[in-house]
Amino acid sequence: MSFFSARKAGAVIGALMAVALAGCEQPPHESAQNGYRGTGMNQIVNKETVEVKRAANVVPEAQPPADADGQRASQAYQNVQVLGHLSEGEFLRVMTAITEWVAPEQGCAYCHNIENLAEDSMYTKKVARRMLQMTQTINANWTAHVGQTGVTCYTCHRGQAVPQNTWFSQKGHEARGSAADPMGHNQPTKANGYASLPLDPLTSLLLKDGQIRVAGNAAVSTGGQGESIQQTETVYSLMNHLSSSLGVNCTFCHNSRSFQSWEQSPPQRVTAWHGIRMVRGINQTFLDPLQPVYPPERLGPLGDAGKVGCATCHQGVNKPLYGVSMFKDYVKELTPPK
Ligand code: HEC
Ligand code: HEC
Ligand code: HEC
Ligand code: HEC
Repeated sequence: MSFFSARKAGAVIGALMAVALAGCEQPPHESAQNGYRGTGMNQIVNKETVEVKRAANVVPEAQPPADADGQRASQAYQNVQVLGHLSEGEFLRVMTAITEWVAPEQGCAYCHNIENLAEDSMYTKKVARRMLQMTQTINANWTAHVGQTGVTCYTCHRGQAVPQNTWFSQKGHEARGSAADPMGHNQPTKANGYASLPLDPLTSLLLKDGQIRVAGNAAVSTGGQGESIQQTETVYSLMNHLSSSLGVNCTFCHNSRSFQSWEQSPPQRVTAWHGIRMVRGINQTFLDPLQPVYPPERLGPLGDAGKVGCATCHQGVNKPLYGVSMFKDYVKELTPPK
């Protein structure tokens, strides 16, 4: 190649690079250190993305407090199974709040036959009753994850009847012969971080109690725990879900010189560990079993009910709603009766 054509080729490559990089996020980027110097433990954020996220995470004002005295809801009404311990005023305050959090446009009629509020004829009311119990359970039993910040319906629903960022079990392409791929590669989904990793890490690791290990404990492979390529890929696929759900890099929870070592990991990894158990718990106890309650069009491609992942609450932020507690104004309503 002559000098001239090499230069021309260089210009063409340069132009191609500019086109390729145009797809990347634009500056300004900011980097914050979250580990010892030299360990490369930095969180890199785009300031513009942060502004968009801040605007999307403003919490609605709490309903004014209600009179705690007077008749209990269990006496005042006919069919109150979960919130019977509240006063009538507190009960209607919660009804107003959940309408604002879950069905602001549809109103009370989203869950009720307005002619008879006691009736359980609508599936949405039956689902909402389980959701109340689930929210109470999270706030009472999972403080190892949610702390005193707690959660309300709004943490997941954000003013929508069906929350964003829920998930269903997925099936891979139905290929046969050498093209068959039971692991579901080459099918980028939100759940696997749009990578060519197993497409459904969530069923095996956030519904079932699968092992989240890639490093075996033995020097030589014994074919045991944490040693198959299949399991390793599924773990990485899940880790993509964790990172993208919280809007963080791997080093938010790991020191990348040893992903396994707990001693070298930041404390957030422990919170995440409890989060994984919490998500499994609520998917197994509350959400998956709601399957028969939903109409068929609300089920996933394999006929299962919608479930919770890290993104359902976090929505791209390390603490949902940037750590603002809405629960503090609804402690009595959103924890089980004492
Ligand atoms: C997202 C679903 C949902 C919305 C929206 C909703 N409710 Fe309810 N409502 C429920 C559930 C669930 C119960 C039963 C609670 C229990 O078992 O503890 C209930 C029960 C009631 C009851 C008790 C009826 C009885 O006699 O048993 C009243 C009254 C009530 N709601 C009023 C309202 C009003 C007023 C609104 C609108 C401001 C409203 N609800 C909006 C889900 C909803
Ligand atoms: C931890 C997250 C989370 C919280 C907290 C939560 N929900 Fe849900 N909710 C879900 C998921 C997941 C679904 C199923 C979504 C799907 O099918 O994709 C759902 C579905 C529903 C539906 C059915 C909507 C439809 O049209 O099919 C109702 C009603 C509902 N939730 C009410 C509530 C109420 C009321 C609260 C608070 C007491 C609440 N939820 C708290 C995650 C949550
Ligand atoms: C929000 C915290 C969090 C983020 C972000 C995160 N991880 Fe993890 N990771 C964990 C936790 C918690 C475990 C252990 C899970 C368990 O034991 O149930 C784990 C386990 C692992 C393991 C298995 C280690 C072993 O013991 O064999 C690997 C490998 C790993 N993560 C890699 C990554 C990679 C790569 C990324 C970035 C794409 C990442 N992680 C992002 C929290 C996180
Ligand atoms: C039911 C809602 C909910 C779900 C689902 C959820 N989280 Fe959280 N998470 C929270 C809340 C609330 C906090 C804030 C707790 C606090 O303020 O102390 C939190 C905090 C965290 C933190 C600490 C962040 C920090 O800056 O210190 C990590 C890490 C985390 N969650 C990881 C996860 C992972 C990983 C998953 C999925 C396996 C998950 N969470 C699922 C509600 C949730």
